[in-house]
Amino acid sequence: MVYFAKSDALNRLPKQFFADLVVKTNAAIAKGYDVINLGQGNPDQPTPPHIVKSLQEAAANPLYHKYSPFRGYDFLKEAIATFYKREYDVDLDPKTEVAILFGSKTGLVEIGECLLNSGDTVLMPDPGYPDYLSGFALANLNMELMPLREENAFLPDYGSMPESLLDKAKLMFLNYPNNPTSATAPADFFEETVKTAEQHNICVLHDFAYGALGFDGEKPRSFLQTPGAKEVGIETYTLSKTYNMAGWRVGFALGNKSVIEAIELFQDHYFVSLFGGIQEASAKALLGPQDCVHELVQRYETRRNAFFDAAKKIGWNAVPSKGSFFGWLPVPKGYSSESFFEYVLEKAHVVLAPGVGFGAGGENYVRIGLLSEPDRLTEAVERIGKLHLFD
Ligand SMILES: Cc1ncc(COP(=O)(O)O)c(C=O)c1O
Repeated sequence: MVYFAKSDALNRLPKQFFADLVVKTNAAIAKGYDVINLGQGNPDQPTPPHIVKSLQEAAANPLYHKYSPFRGYDFLKEAIATFYKREYDVDLDPKTEVAILFGSKTGLVEIGECLLNSGDTVLMPDPGYPDYLSGFALANLNMELMPLREENAFLPDYGSMPESLLDKAKLMFLNYPNNPTSATAPADFFEETVKTAEQHNICVLHDFAYGALGFDGEKPRSFLQTPGAKEVGIETYTLSKTYNMAGWRVGFALGNKSVIEAIELFQDHYFVSLFGGIQEASAKALLGPQDCVHELVQRYETRRNAFFDAAKKIGWNAVPSKGSFFGWLPVPKGYSSESFFEYVLEKAHVVLAPGVGFGAGGENYVRIGLLSEPDRLTEAVERIGKLHLFD
């Protein structure tokens, strides 16, 4: 066989840090241990039945057996605009301010190639969602980190960033509710973001993947609620978490017209839009009853309470999650995030996600997923408690 070498773009792609952890987790499961896996971020609940039923019905419609319109059906874009108006009081023109994505990950990865050129600078939160790096690598961007520190409530501190860096940056990624820290963003932070972006001519991409998931009665804010946000950026949203539709691959990008047009143009060349039946069921999800979303938030909040109450009992003190379905907790003294992961997997058969996998800024933390029922979450903490690491 002739070996065909990969392109430079593929060779630049980052190593998947979490792939090794999956191997170690599977090895522990293969040994027959009762492993509690808190390391992953895959919603555990099924898609609500009324949404599944709409897809089943729509699948029989011969219209959808043809190519979909390249940029998606108008009815879905209109449903998205209606959803944003209803949920956030944000006005969007469905024709020019909404692009449909194959899951929001596609938008996050393609935006670099849509807007920037090789060597241009992009600002990335540290810690941050590792998939952002894939797009930066493909577009050959210069990535600079914005530290998210606990003392700043895991928000970037623009005032401490050099002016020259802000001047150089063309694109900034933000994500609240945040993966991995579970922090949320207040209105004044987004106002400061708009001001900074205006001053330095930076395009903001706010990743709102966990937009539906806020606790203690606090609804996470959309970046687009901020005056001037549409002038300087876009928001990406996904049905993956809100409606447990991760396998369906439905997301959207919303906001600045020039950015939306760039995404649409890029996608005209790469894809034909999503299967029409999925678009119809997605519109029904957005416009239909929302009890399923309220129940889901309640479910995650109950799990969050169970986990953090149990953690407190063993002396593992951390700020309870404000949003998302993650928790972000410190590692005990004497451990790195990886050595803590290894030790807890070996001795307690609990899988945690080492913070360093989200960037050097995550080193002293681990991320847990609230994707098991309260009894399993409590048991995981109790097993860790028996190791007496927090006494
Ligand atoms: C922060 C963040 N953004 C985006 C995504 C991508 O979601 P999707 O591609 O399913 O829309 C995820 C998925 O886990 C995520 O955690």
